[in-house]
Amino acid sequence: MAVGNPSTPPTAPMASPGAAGSPGAAAPDTPAAPAAHGGPAPEAEGLPVLGNIVDFRKDILDAMHRGWQARGDLVRYRLGPVVVHGVSSPELAGEVLTDSGTYGKLGPDNPLRLILGEGLLTSDDHESWMRNRRMMQPIYSKQALSGMFRAMADATADQLAHMERSHPPGAEVDLHGEMMRVTLDIVSRCMFSTDVSRTRDKLSPEAVDVAVNYAFDRLQNPFSPPTGWPTPRNRRFQQVMDGLDGMMYGIIEERRAAGPPEGGANDLLDMLLAARDADTGEGMSDRELRDEIITTFAAGHETTAVTLTWAFYLLSRHREVLRRAQEEVDRELSDALPTVEDLARMPYLLQIFEEALRMYPSAPIVPRLTLKDTVLGGHHVPEGSRVLVNLFNIHRHERHWADPERFDPDHFAAANKKGRYRFAYMPFGAGPHLCIGKHFALMEAHLLLAALIRRYEFRHVPSHRVVNHATITLRPKYGMTMTLHERRRAPRPAATTAG
Ligand code: HEM
Repeated sequence: MAVGNPSTPPTAPMASPGAAGSPGAAAPDTPAAPAAHGGPAPEAEGLPVLGNIVDFRKDILDAMHRGWQARGDLVRYRLGPVVVHGVSSPELAGEVLTDSGTYGKLGPDNPLRLILGEGLLTSDDHESWMRNRRMMQPIYSKQALSGMFRAMADATADQLAHMERSHPPGAEVDLHGEMMRVTLDIVSRCMFSTDVSRTRDKLSPEAVDVAVNYAFDRLQNPFSPPTGWPTPRNRRFQQVMDGLDGMMYGIIEERRAAGPPEGGANDLLDMLLAARDADTGEGMSDRELRDEIITTFAAGHETTAVTLTWAFYLLSRHREVLRRAQEEVDRELSDALPTVEDLARMPYLLQIFEEALRMYPSAPIVPRLTLKDTVLGGHHVPEGSRVLVNLFNIHRHERHWADPERFDPDHFAAANKKGRYRFAYMPFGAGPHLCIGKHFALMEAHLLLAALIRRYEFRHVPSHRVVNHATITLRPKYGMTMTLHERRRAPRPAATTAG
């Protein structure tokens, strides 16, 4: 989807005039009345045999946006033999995401499993998912994460130093590349504090890209060649995965051999190794650890990086919001790097991130598989159907968002959040699979926004084309070219603890 001025999108405005009142105003917490019959959901236009494969591969969000506008909140698509239901209303999405007995995770043929194995994100076995989720929940609690703030701040200091070294004032930079670099560094430091330098080559953004694009293509195209065929793409993917697995198992083996660190866990890996099932007292196997580590990397860096990229793009288009953010930072931040306490005094920055996540939800489509025949929105949905909860459409739904294409961080001012329908905004998902890394992401994003806004102003280069492109995340297809202008020179960053 091409992104024009975010205030005036090329697509038809979706909010009917005066639909939901002022920014942040929410419709009452009542679902829309379902249709009164149990027939199949309306089907989107598509080609014979292929159905919607071509459209989905070209631009899944655009295809689903058109389907939504033409056919409504629940639309049936066909990807060759595979039936897919697109869900675009908060009410139906809430039903899907909270009922894991009817709407399960995708099964063993989920191509993401080729990378993530059966970590939390891709496991379809409720029992083992529940066991691991219980073990991991405390590791990602707000309280535990404050111990990781230091690693996040070190990576931020390094990023500032890198930008100062690599980009003279006024230079053009691909801001998306920079955000990927720093969020990958953060998750590496938090996961492997002492082994972080070993992970850098194998976990390069390029390697991650090869793996993720491979899996996503397979997700959208049931006619992909089998993984065992020796095509160049299959071979490249296997090479990346072999490198990744070798490194992961190597680190796990060494850590196990070294035993628990004196003085308590230093990083997420120490915590994962120490986690025990409350009923059996058992820890995770090497395979489970490998799957959860790779899942954390995959789910936990690009999602934050793309949202930061969109946030800086939006700020460059909305000077009045940028000025307010700069005022907040200049007023509250005395040092180059904020502390946790400083962040608490800068709520507007967090609102900017929340609003960027509304307009550009970084995991825009949450997939499920029906485990039995069911009825959704009055329509029959057969067992075995893929259900795609479309957060991009939901965050623009006219029953809940007046003027949804307007970038307005005040949508997330405390007073405006109150009373909003709970499923009208859910960038981190909802129900039992709610993102486990939500607080991690919010903390690192808040920190990076504060440090970068204090130091730089980024201006979008007008000739650079901005097109959003959904793979597993919602990326800017051609990166994000911006010029970098120094506002305040930082004191030399402190020496870093790792890498
Ligand atoms: C802006 C950043 C992020 C966004 C928008 C995001 C979004 C999401 C969403 C929508 C889900 C639900 C998936 C589903 O229901 O199938 C999810 C799950 C998950 N996320 Fe995140 N995420 C972000 C950051 C992170 C981070 C930083 C981590 C780890 C450090 C993480 C780890 C996970 C994991 C492990 C799951 C699976 C949870 C489960 O099924 O039990 N995410 N995320």
